Amino acid sequence: MSPNQDPNHRKDPASLSDQNPLSPAQAADLQQRAVAVAHHAYAPYSNFRVGAAVLLSDGTIVTGCNVENASYRLTTCAEQTAIAAAISQHGPAIRIRAIAVANLNSTASQPCGACHQTIHEFSTPHTLIFFPAQDGSIASTTIAELLPGAFILKK
Ligand code: THU
Repeated sequence: MSPNQDPNHRKDPASLSDQNPLSPAQAADLQQRAVAVAHHAYAPYSNFRVGAAVLLSDGTIVTGCNVENASYRLTTCAEQTAIAAAISQHGPAIRIRAIAVANLNSTASQPCGACHQTIHEFSTPHTLIFFPAQDGSIASTTIAELLPGAFILKK
């Protein structure tokens, strides 16, 4: 069964994140990498520079940043760039253990709706998502909590 058909995707997100604990050091490392790669962002139109660091199930970390375009709708989000890089470097079987998203604008920002679906495609029921919260802290949640109604293709 592919992960996005797994009924565990629908389980209580709190219990799911409990099953995938990252140490504080691991979480901080992922966060730092997201901030670092945000400096590479190409965001001349929004000036909103975003970085994403993806921790794969084998322990590898892959990063990406947003890449904008004069034709605005062609912009690629940091999460999508990072996940595309992970597939390119490690193949289609990757699973995301955790993803951290950061921006250089000191703004609360969770992944956009399109990125929820992209993350879901390569997630497990325990995949963690870290993002900047309103109060300045780093929030932690699961993909099941962010996107309980993911699109699943049934052929
Ligand atoms: N952006 C991301 O990179 N990730 C998100 O989840 C939300 C938005 C980027 C896209 C665009 O370059 C800029 O942030 C402003 O929307």
